[in-house]
Amino acid sequence: IALGVLFGGASTEYAVSLSSAAAVIKHLDRSKYDLILIGITRDGRWFRYFGDEEGIREDRWHSNPGCIPAFLSPDRSMKGLFELAGTEYRFTPIDVVFPVLHGKNGEDGTLQGLLELADLPFVGCGSLSSAICMDKAIAKTLVEAAGISVPPAVVLTAAQWANGDRASLEHLPFPVYVKPARSGSSIGITKAHDPTELKAGIDVAFQHDDKIVLETHIDGVEIGCAVLGGTNLIVGELDEIELQGGFFDYEEKYTLHTSSIHLPARIGNTKEEEARETALRIYRTLGCRGFARVDLFLSHDGTLYFNEVNTIPGFTAASRYPNMMRAAGLEFPDLLDRLVSEALN
Ligand code: DAL
Ligand code: MG
Repeated sequence: IALGVLFGGASTEYAVSLSSAAAVIKHLDRSKYDLILIGITRDGRWFRYFGDEEGIREDRWHSNPGCIPAFLSPDRSMKGLFELAGTEYRFTPIDVVFPVLHGKNGEDGTLQGLLELADLPFVGCGSLSSAICMDKAIAKTLVEAAGISVPPAVVLTAAQWANGDRASLEHLPFPVYVKPARSGSSIGITKAHDPTELKAGIDVAFQHDDKIVLETHIDGVEIGCAVLGGTNLIVGELDEIELQGGFFDYEEKYTLHTSSIHLPARIGNTKEEEARETALRIYRTLGCRGFARVDLFLSHDGTLYFNEVNTIPGFTAASRYPNMMRAAGLEFPDLLDRLVSEALN
C-alpha cells in the first residue's frame, strides 16, 4: 500500500505535528506500507522528504538535500504526488493518505476537501466534520441541539467587539476561558478571573482568530474519550486530567509539569459508561469517522459537559489517544493498521 504521510503544516501546531508524525512513521509496519513522506513548511510549501523520522522530530527535514518540491494532484485519474526532480516533474502514485497535521490547514477541513476533490482515501474525518469540529462555536451549537450539556458560553466576533458590543458578556460567571474559535493545543487560550483579565484575554484570542468563544469554567475534571471507526465504533480506555491549578494549556499539554493524566479515569463505572455513550453521540452528531478524541468535562455534581472534539488528536508516543487505545488492548502499530484500513473501506 502506497501510504502518503503528511506532516508539518501552515499551522500554529506545526511543532506538535512533527512529533506526532515522527511517532506515526516509527510505528508503521514497513512490510505493509510504502511510505511517501510529504512535509509542509510553516509557510505552506510542500516537499517530498526521503529522510528518517528523527529529521522530522528535530525539524531538520526541510534542509535534507533530497527534499524536493512536490504537490498532490487534484486530478481523480492521477491519484498521487507530482515531484520536481531536476527540471522535470515525476509522478508517484498514492493509495491512501494519513494527514498527521494539527489545527489550521490540516485538521480544519481544508486539506480534507482537497483529498476529497482528488478522490484519494484518507485517514480521519471528512471535510464537513473536520470543519465543524475545528470551530468550537459551531460544534457547541450542534452538540447542544442534540441534547448534550455544554458549558455556558458567549460567541464574539471581532466586528462585534470593535462596535462596543459588551452586553452578552455581562452574565457570564467567572472564571472564564477565552478561546479563539478555531485553534488547537490551547494556543491563544487564557483563563480570566475578573473583567481586566477578560479584556486582556479577548485581545490575545483575537490575535488568533476573528471569532472567539468565552466559556465558563466547569468545576470538575476533564475526561478524554478516544473513538475509532466509521460504522462499528469503539471507545478506548477513558483518561482524566487532574490539574494542580491554572488549566491544561500548551505548556502543560506537552510537559505535564503541574498536571497529571490518569489512565483509566477514576470516575466509577456508571459515569464511565455515561461518558462513553455521550462521546459516541457527539461523534455521530458531528459526523465523525476514522478517529477523534472527544473531550468532556465531568463536574463535581456529576454532570457531563461537551468540551471539544479533536479530529486529528495528538499522536506522539506519549499522547493521550494512542495511550487510551493501548490501554484498551490496541497497540500503536495495530491502531495505525486499523486507521488505514478504515480509510480504505
Ligand atoms: N490539538 C492537539 C494536537 C490535541 O488535540 O491533541
Ligand atoms: Mg483541541
